[in-house]
Amino acid sequence: MEQQRARGAAIPAARLAQLLAGMTTARPAYRHLAAAVRTLILDGGIAVDARLPAERELAPALALSRTTISAAYEQLRKNGYARSRRGSGTWTALPESAHCPAQWDAMAPGPPHGATPPMPPPGAIDIATAALPMPQDVLHQDLAEAVRHLPHPAHTSGYHSYGLPELRTAVAARYTARGLPTHREQILVTAGAQQALSLALSLLCGPGDRVLVESPSYPNALDAIRRARLHPVPVPVTEDGWDGDLLTCALRQSVPRLAYLIPAFHNPTGALMPPGQCAEVLGATRRPGTWLVVDETLADMALDTATPTPFAAHGAGGGGEHVISIGSLSKSYWSGLRVGWLRASPRLVAELAELRATVDVSGSVLDQLLALLLLDRGDGWLADRVDQVRHRRQTLLAALERYLPHWSWRLPPGGLSLWVDLGQPVASALAERALAHGVRIGSGARFGGEPGLYEHRLRIPYTLPPAALQEAVRRLAAVLADWPPVAGAARSRSDWVA
Ligand SMILES: Cc1ncc(COP(=O)(O)O)c(C=O)c1O
Repeated sequence: MEQQRARGAAIPAARLAQLLAGMTTARPAYRHLAAAVRTLILDGGIAVDARLPAERELAPALALSRTTISAAYEQLRKNGYARSRRGSGTWTALPESAHCPAQWDAMAPGPPHGATPPMPPPGAIDIATAALPMPQDVLHQDLAEAVRHLPHPAHTSGYHSYGLPELRTAVAARYTARGLPTHREQILVTAGAQQALSLALSLLCGPGDRVLVESPSYPNALDAIRRARLHPVPVPVTEDGWDGDLLTCALRQSVPRLAYLIPAFHNPTGALMPPGQCAEVLGATRRPGTWLVVDETLADMALDTATPTPFAAHGAGGGGEHVISIGSLSKSYWSGLRVGWLRASPRLVAELAELRATVDVSGSVLDQLLALLLLDRGDGWLADRVDQVRHRRQTLLAALERYLPHWSWRLPPGGLSLWVDLGQPVASALAERALAHGVRIGSGARFGGEPGLYEHRLRIPYTLPPAALQEAVRRLAAVLADWPPVAGAARSRSDWVA
């Protein structure tokens, strides 16, 4: 079964030493080194199935003896956080206890591990979803306007397999205005960004293909990849962003069929990939047989920075034929519309449109008319929306500081949520208990793609109205105040030295 797992990249000794800086000073050194590496694995600083440096290389990089490194690796192996493969070194792993057996096997679709949190009881506050409600007056106005526009498309059959022509033109114009010249023929309107990804996976990949993904990442994307019987190759992303060397190294070493990235703004960390790194990734994927799917669903949610230039604009010729950019109205406007799109070469757009016809024939004309009217509201409307999100984020920060001051987070430059560190691996248990207190929230574990990861993280969106956010945080604090004596899984991460 192990051979079926895709292998991630090798971590250079100097890089691991950098990641471990300040984490390994206590004694006994080998146990603390093992604990620190385990923490990095569980927090996504090191991907699962990445090759650890050779002992003789790590020892001088950490100024420790080779015996200490050897003992630390042995400790990791004993606890299931590393595996040795004869002749090919030591690889990071997760203990079997963290897995449902079917999920170890990437060839078996199994139950989706990023499963949506259970539905809350009536009256509960739902902060499991990072999406904004649509102001009613806007919906009413644009619906009325859409009805006035309907006679025109009503004269057509209603099937627009590429999307309503006017909407394709508007989306293309948006890319052009943001620095990526785009023609209508390069746009396929889809039922949301998720459908765009599913179409790309289904057209471009076959069972067993490797797909490079970020860890953590958007759970529905990870599940789509698993359900398509593809092998995810995880590359870590933290609030500090992507390790460029590791990312390009993983692209080179694993030669994935497709890479799926969320460069702006990454879900769940909110990180933004800098332009230079976008160009590097474009270069590293420009090889026959590798596709790059760039999910920019959250790109409009630029809270502390300018709206990022589309990723593909960082390469010559619009990034190249191998790039598929995905966008959606779900985050900046309303997910209830189910309108998204992809941008690709006209040839690929034609193939994807043909495939889409086999899924749901084409999208709703009325929804696309509404989408067009919303886009017509222009950047001023969007700026107000972003202001509103900023205000809600401020409310969430204040509530967390007041009720849960021991939690920590890094303020992301954009996106719709905070990736909060709870300091102890209790996220799933907390999410379960929170439901009984009327709060639906997603454990960080949903974003891992591997059971056992990110158990000390919660993703907390700031999309609800301020009063609901405050109350949700107050209730989470109440759940923690009632917490039974902490034991077993609830131990602090730093306590782990066994
Ligand atoms: C990164 C990312 N991609 C895609 C989606 C799904 O978007 P849509 O509603 O357009 O399918 C989401 C929704 O949360 C997301 O965060």
